[in-house]
Amino acid sequence: FNINVQFYILAYLIGGIPCGLLFAKLFTGKDIREAGSGSIGATNVLRVLKETNPKLAKKLAILTVICDAFKGIAVLLLAKILHLEIATLWAIAIFAIVGHCYSPYLKFEGGKGVATGAGVLLVMLPIETLIAFFTWFIVGKVLKISSLSSLLALCALLSSSYIIHYDLEGIHTHAPLWIIAFVIVYKHVPNIIRLFQGQETKVI
Ligand code: G3P
Repeated sequence: FNINVQFYILAYLIGGIPCGLLFAKLFTGKDIREAGSGSIGATNVLRVLKETNPKLAKKLAILTVICDAFKGIAVLLLAKILHLEIATLWAIAIFAIVGHCYSPYLKFEGGKGVATGAGVLLVMLPIETLIAFFTWFIVGKVLKISSLSSLLALCALLSSSYIIHYDLEGIHTHAPLWIIAFVIVYKHVPNIIRLFQGQETKVI
């Protein structure tokens, strides 16, 4: 295998580590896939564990966000040190997100790609990601619905990327962004249905 392929495999295998599931299991013995949205991300860690221990739930949710984000960041930084080209970095970013969403350790089930996506995008597009984070924070504070915050943050990311990279070179940025957006939106289909039915739960 050439170095690029090795990095794709590494990104997929590290991206697939289900941090939220592991932390919840380790500290409370609960399998968060069996409750709430069934997802393995920070939102479901908070949702499921806060009923019994709100303080611990919040701590573990924050830890989950950090670790899920760091999975992709770590591989990308390593690839950057080795001066791999930009197209390879984008592919690594996508593989880390796909690993998180379709984990090889969970029979290809997994999370929704938001924290891992935020991590890799912070490396690839820091300004757009900060705009997205700001959007996520404000929407979360006002509406208190995690999935809606994530989806609107994704819209902010895409639109700010088009505004910032309006020149031709930007095309290289937009193709991988659309792939990432597709994976994240696809994983949020059940949330989108619940949002339209007015049945999405508030968690933050
Ligand atoms: O970050 C994940 C969030 O957007 C949705 O999670 O558990 O409410 O489906 P959840």
